[in-house]
Amino acid sequence: MEEKYRELVKEAFEAMDNAYAPYSNYHVGACIKCKDGKTFKGANIENASFGATNCAERTAVFAAYANGYRKKDIEALAIVSDGKRIAAPCGICRQVLCELLEQETPIILTNGIDETVTNIRELLPFQFNEEDLQ
Ligand code: THU
Repeated sequence: MEEKYRELVKEAFEAMDNAYAPYSNYHVGACIKCKDGKTFKGANIENASFGATNCAERTAVFAAYANGYRKKDIEALAIVSDGKRIAAPCGICRQVLCELLEQETPIILTNGIDETVTNIRELLPFQFNEEDLQ
């Protein structure tokens, strides 16, 4: 992994420690780094009504937006898990990220063993997004 992402991934793993996942026991952490250096962590937060669960990357990106940051302000997003494979974002998160991140913003995915750097353009081709509603 590129050195510049190492600290961000470390913070995402710290966030994973706060995951509340009593049903799946699958723990996910995320961390957004903004261009001004500010970071926002997220973890998956489950619910007995399963559909009310919030994924880690949505928690992190919503936190950034709730604090006034917007896609142009975001430098990178790291998503980590304790799963057997790299932490690929679910379909709902891809839809959210395609609107709330720039298309080329680096997204680092790792489970601590395998890792890749991608972006939402690669993760979600043929998007339905805000441009369709203009
Ligand atoms: N999860 C995430 O946090 N991010 C993803 O994109 C994949 C799924 C969480 C949701 C749920 O708490 C657990 O992983 C199992 O689906």
